[in-house]
Amino acid sequence: MKPYFITTAIDYTNGAPHTGHAYEKVLADALARFQRQSGRDVFFLTGVDQHGQKVQQSAEKLGIQPAEFVENLTAQFRSLWSDLAISNNAWAATTDPLHVRCVQGILQQLFDAGQIYRSTQTGHYSVRQEQFVTDKERGPDGEFGPEWGEVTLIEEENYYFRLEKHRDWLLDYVDTHPNFITPEFRRTELRNAVEKLTGDLCISRPKSRLQWGIELPFDPDFVTYVWFDALINYISFAGYEPSSPLNTQLSTLNFTWPALHVIGKDILIPAHGVYWPIMLHAIGFPDDAIPPLLVHGWWNISGAKMSKSLGNVVAPTELIERYGADAVRYYLLADIVTGRDADFNPTRLEERYNSDLANGIGNLLNRTLNMAKKYREGVLRSDTTDGLRPAAESAVAAYTAAFERSDPRAAIDAIVDLANAANQHVDQSAPWKLAKSESDAAALDTVLYHLAETTRILAILLNPIVPTAAEKIATQLAIDPATLTMANATWGGLPDGHTLSAPSPVFPRIDTTKSSVES
Ligand code: MSP
Repeated sequence: MKPYFITTAIDYTNGAPHTGHAYEKVLADALARFQRQSGRDVFFLTGVDQHGQKVQQSAEKLGIQPAEFVENLTAQFRSLWSDLAISNNAWAATTDPLHVRCVQGILQQLFDAGQIYRSTQTGHYSVRQEQFVTDKERGPDGEFGPEWGEVTLIEEENYYFRLEKHRDWLLDYVDTHPNFITPEFRRTELRNAVEKLTGDLCISRPKSRLQWGIELPFDPDFVTYVWFDALINYISFAGYEPSSPLNTQLSTLNFTWPALHVIGKDILIPAHGVYWPIMLHAIGFPDDAIPPLLVHGWWNISGAKMSKSLGNVVAPTELIERYGADAVRYYLLADIVTGRDADFNPTRLEERYNSDLANGIGNLLNRTLNMAKKYREGVLRSDTTDGLRPAAESAVAAYTAAFERSDPRAAIDAIVDLANAANQHVDQSAPWKLAKSESDAAALDTVLYHLAETTRILAILLNPIVPTAAEKIATQLAIDPATLTMANATWGGLPDGHTLSAPSPVFPRIDTTKSSVES
């Protein structure tokens, strides 16, 4: 089977990482970890988008070179992903010589094939958005809105990529490939945009205006514009070689194409839904090598997108310091439906953590290990009765189906339901009463086995979501963390005579009387 290739958007290094960026990486990481623990080879790529006008301007303001400016921010992204246990297999940084070579190779190839041409454009240009704006962008008052920043009239020679001539191909592709975009409602949105597509894509900037970019191989007076450069990361870091025949590459193992691209809704139209499939099509990629897109929504703050330009970002490093990486990962996956928006609220983070993890799973683990130790020196007796088995089996099925449709929130619901069922089982079976009479010894063994076995399965299910905690649970259950795989998520994994270790808190309660992190 082909490796599972998953990517995220590459983050702009024109500002510090925020919790919106973190969500996307955690989402893709959970999907990657789920595939790995299902036995699939995974290639997970994330990284940074380092070129562009904004970077050049920010560096100028600070009186430093753009390379130095991005180096600092790149380090912040890298260390955050490491703190959040993001398990990417490769790192896409657009200044990497490997990437630069690949972008230049593709540009030359498209230029030679007549897909790129030179032309003059006169028009209004928005410095902030790094693009020409047309009358369509004017507000009812005839002015360009504040989102465009300063708009000036300029005339410029540039290079253009032929987009429009591929419109009918893309329309047909969208119509005939229902799995191109998840969720479905975004496909309609994209279809409407493709229908209206006119004009070609300006892919260059004269060096007089922008130096911080990849030089066009056929004209050293120009650099390529940020989207053309950035989108190619998905293939350059997968080992794509513009000079080798494409069909040989598509069948090689190193080039694990197509990837599932995890992106936010703001970069679907036009970048990933229009430019990227057309670029690949123009390079010669066949229809079955056009990558599917998983489009997630936004984390908002009181209804507005969390973003650097709005100045309402929540710093993930502060959240991690206060609550720990697992709590942050858990909240970011538990409180949002993939594809929809959600409102970020630290109080909700505390509530979900305390109810589901501290009181739910943490309590279950603690009770199970304590009772096993107190009544049986930690030793389990295997058991064939039903007990918690049907609940565990249906949780595993619901969880698997949820992950397969890229819906970690529903997977978490299955986990929480199973933990609740197990905690109720403790209350109903009252092991402390069973422990009082010798005639209930077998019944007590049964309950303890069912609790331990359910906790083991919960550790497997938690592994893609809160990997550090899952490993700690495995250690306390005295099982090898390497056995936390879906193949082992079948009932009866703990052998007769297995001895559990001592409990220590995995999910210490968050003290909600202290003020939460302010947004
Ligand atoms: N550099 C481009 C992507 C190039 S991909 C070839 C870019 N960078 S970004 O830093 O602005 O955004 C990176 C990703 O983070 C995008 O997918 C974007 O949707 C996501 N998010 C940024 N803010 C977000 C929220 N507030 N909530 C959820 N995700 C958001 O776009």
